[in-house]
Amino acid sequence: MCGIVGFTGHRPAAGILLEGLAKLEYRGYDSAGLAVYGGDGSVHVVKATGKLKNLIEKTDNGRSLPGSCGIGHTRWATHGEPNEKNAHPHVSGGFREDSSDYSDTAVIGVHNGIIENYEELREKLQRHGYVFYSDTDTEVAIKTVDYYYKKYKIGPIDAINRMMVRVRGSYALALMFQDYPGEIYAARKDSPMIIGVSDDESFLASDATAMLGYTREVYYIGNLQAARLLPGEVHFFDLNGDEISIPKAEVTWDEKGAEKNGYEHFMMKEMHEQPEAVRATLDSVLREERMSPAAKWSFGAGTLDFSGVGLPDEYLESIDAMTIVACGSAWHVGMAAQYVIEELAEIPVRVELASEYRYRKILSPANAVVLVISQSGETADSLEALRISKQMGIRTIGLVNVEGSSIAREADKILYTKAGPEIAVATTKAYTAQLALVYAFAVRLAFVKKKIDEDTYRKYVQELKSLPDHLTSLLDGKGRIQWLAAKYAGTKDAFFIGRGQDYAIGLEGSLKLKEISYMHSEAYAAGELKHGTISLIEDGTPVIGILTQERLLEKTISNLKECKTRGAYVIGITNAENPLVEECLDFVLRIPATDDHFAGLLAVVPLQLLGYYSSVSRGLDVDKPRNLAKSVTVE
Ligand code: G6P
Repeated sequence: MCGIVGFTGHRPAAGILLEGLAKLEYRGYDSAGLAVYGGDGSVHVVKATGKLKNLIEKTDNGRSLPGSCGIGHTRWATHGEPNEKNAHPHVSGGFREDSSDYSDTAVIGVHNGIIENYEELREKLQRHGYVFYSDTDTEVAIKTVDYYYKKYKIGPIDAINRMMVRVRGSYALALMFQDYPGEIYAARKDSPMIIGVSDDESFLASDATAMLGYTREVYYIGNLQAARLLPGEVHFFDLNGDEISIPKAEVTWDEKGAEKNGYEHFMMKEMHEQPEAVRATLDSVLREERMSPAAKWSFGAGTLDFSGVGLPDEYLESIDAMTIVACGSAWHVGMAAQYVIEELAEIPVRVELASEYRYRKILSPANAVVLVISQSGETADSLEALRISKQMGIRTIGLVNVEGSSIAREADKILYTKAGPEIAVATTKAYTAQLALVYAFAVRLAFVKKKIDEDTYRKYVQELKSLPDHLTSLLDGKGRIQWLAAKYAGTKDAFFIGRGQDYAIGLEGSLKLKEISYMHSEAYAAGELKHGTISLIEDGTPVIGILTQERLLEKTISNLKECKTRGAYVIGITNAENPLVEECLDFVLRIPATDDHFAGLLAVVPLQLLGYYSSVSRGLDVDKPRNLAKSVTVE
């Protein structure tokens, strides 16, 4: 989704803004633009469609835009097609075709979010003589600020506040006022924005990765708050225009996380970071009992302890039902988690797509909790689902990767995955870290609720601790998957089948394949394929069976046989030592032996690699697939 950046200081702004936009490229976009104050008080706006390199070329790497204060934007089109007129920044006046310039740049702004009542506001502004050059809701927001600013002859913060009262929807807005050179103004509601400050410079961005090269000192601006940025100085205001104070925070993420470190793609790098992401995530809830702190990872030692993250055993004990709410891959984690939590802790678990949950009648059982899973912590539907749950008085837990994100700040309790920044649009390490954390949660919950005995508990903790090493060995064997992907690079359809948790892993495998290779694929509960979809199986259609649940193995193998009889090339991912596997399958991918409850976390890795190599074989943009956004901040 759209990325915004802002910089004010004492050195050229454009290069810093372009660098920041490059760091936000992963969010997904289809055009980009910059506005910079020239030294003479004028403001220059440049936009380009397509990749950021077009804007870089157009501005001679920023050199054609002198000035030390500016804002920039990457746009993921919502209202209006991705062309230059619709690209941000947007301004007060009209566009003059004759001079390729704007008639009035009193107010200039960039926006991430959606203004819902933009049509009504546009009509009102048109009645007041405003002429619109774009199809965007953003232009309406900027012109609304301009309207109040000029009509009441008030300062920027008051004009912004009047706009905030008037518009409905979500926004992270960065604005410049021509009368206030060297200053950037910001406003936020429900869309991500972070403000950074160093000794004599100030920054603003959709997320911290864009400014980590310059500062780690940040402010998380709240909903319906505004800010004024001067070089090295930031002031915050509430909706009344009163100055408020916001505590400064420090970003602990490693900047290296947002760099490729020699890998060809972020996705490959991030797949290789999975052992460490899972280890660090488990480490946050693993405590030594008997020996030195380091001993918690040694064989037989260590216990799970969620009290350090605000979930003491008494809290866990009081959970009698769960609803897991999420979107995309995080929803797939929820799907897998439901089987493990129900089996181990014996409480009912319901899994909901956040976009559905928010519009249905919510009937929450007694003593329930809602667990919202989100890598970014900013997904609009997930955030709204969290808010609705809270309003209904349901206890909420957020399971989030990004520190200080909206869900992290608003959930009653927060569990963090420790995956570090994830840049590739197709999630890998955040997914496995989420899965590891929900597994650990399920094990502790089951133990506290006395559904498993001490020996079983200890065995499960051992199994969890072995996952990082198993992940390493899986990644070492990626060559065979590369071969498989090359063989099937031209295929039309692919199907993933499994039962129980294997079905949930198939959902993720299918998404990984289609989102980056653009190959049509679907995941089915193995028993369901024959109710229609099997008619799509032709000679050579790959059908991938996930076979990690021993008690369901023979059933899924029967379903694979049904496909094979109809011409499918059947591939199995398994930990099973069962003669049926070799007998029936055309291609077997083995994963390390682990307890069936946790095998899904290993089975997903070959599927991630399959998606990756299929995309590479087809010569596609692995990290930034078409039409997609990393962080979906609109509903
Ligand atoms: C987008 C991403 C997916 C992600 C989903 C939910 O669609 O491309 O990879 O799973 O959003 O994102 P979240 O940040 O809430 O986990």
